[in-house]
Amino acid sequence: MDSSEQRIKIAIQKSGRLTDHSIDLLQRCGLKVTRSKDQLFCYGENMPVDLLLVRDDDIPQLVADDICDLGICGLNIVEEKRLKMGAKSDAGLFKQVFELDFGHCRLSLAGPEGSEFKGPATLQNKRIATSYTSILEDYLATNNVSAEIVYFSGAVEITPKLGKADFICDLVSTGSTLAANGLVEVETLLNSEAIIIQTQAPLGKSKQDLVDRLLQRLDGVLQVRESKYIMLHAPRAALAKIQSLLPGTEAPTVLPLEGTEDRVAVHAVCRENVFWETLENLKAAGASSLLVLPVEKMLA
Ligand code: PRP
Ligand code: ZN
Repeated sequence: MDSSEQRIKIAIQKSGRLTDHSIDLLQRCGLKVTRSKDQLFCYGENMPVDLLLVRDDDIPQLVADDICDLGICGLNIVEEKRLKMGAKSDAGLFKQVFELDFGHCRLSLAGPEGSEFKGPATLQNKRIATSYTSILEDYLATNNVSAEIVYFSGAVEITPKLGKADFICDLVSTGSTLAANGLVEVETLLNSEAIIIQTQAPLGKSKQDLVDRLLQRLDGVLQVRESKYIMLHAPRAALAKIQSLLPGTEAPTVLPLEGTEDRVAVHAVCRENVFWETLENLKAAGASSLLVLPVEKMLA
């Protein structure tokens, strides 16, 4: 086996809303890559991990065909591909799907301002422009509606103005593209965010170990985003109450305080953000010397 086959290939979006986030996430996992403009391949300098920068629409196929070991793309694209390939679940296509908490958007139906929409039946015999033909087809079939799906690979928002469609079905993030084209959202078909998918093909021990380590680091990176380390002093008698006020913690560490019997130091990792209200409630329960610190890395 040549050494390039021992390297992990991760497909990410070449240029678009997921690109910077995807690279940032992998860098937080410890990966060092140099990225130059128009480059389609980024060599991992400190790990046997390389990035392939491709069109997001191509990512599910690259992973399904085992050309890439992992891929980061929107759930919308994975779902479209899954339906297109006629798979009822991810079995046979990808493995290990987990959400990455960025790239939030939705696939929605929209129509020109003032258009009437009283549920799916409104779409009967209408023309709907989209690049998500399979998701739309599935939605129409589920709702027993027959409509004409007009395929456009881009600039779907312009089609009603051109007289090519009555409604569109496209991604909405901020909603500014719809607004700029005089369209209003009438129904959401799918809520989406970036996810990571893994090939179904067996990887061999050393590669699988590396993938597992990378996924574990990724999980750690996602967890620390919201996590805080909290330290405080509290009356020993109020420990139960204090613990119940700490958001998303397991058993805290309780330490003696020099020179006093009835007060202790409490240290805990909170898996959720700690708001001012929480600190005020802790103080009201008898806590003092409260300190909240960001968590940089976490390994469960
Ligand atoms: C999507 C979609 C819209 C736009 C909506 O395209 O096709 O044009 O984003 O975003 P907004 O609600 O914030 O205005 P995207 O940039 O994801 O590119 P792609 O669909 O060509 O991959
Ligand atoms: Zn795309």
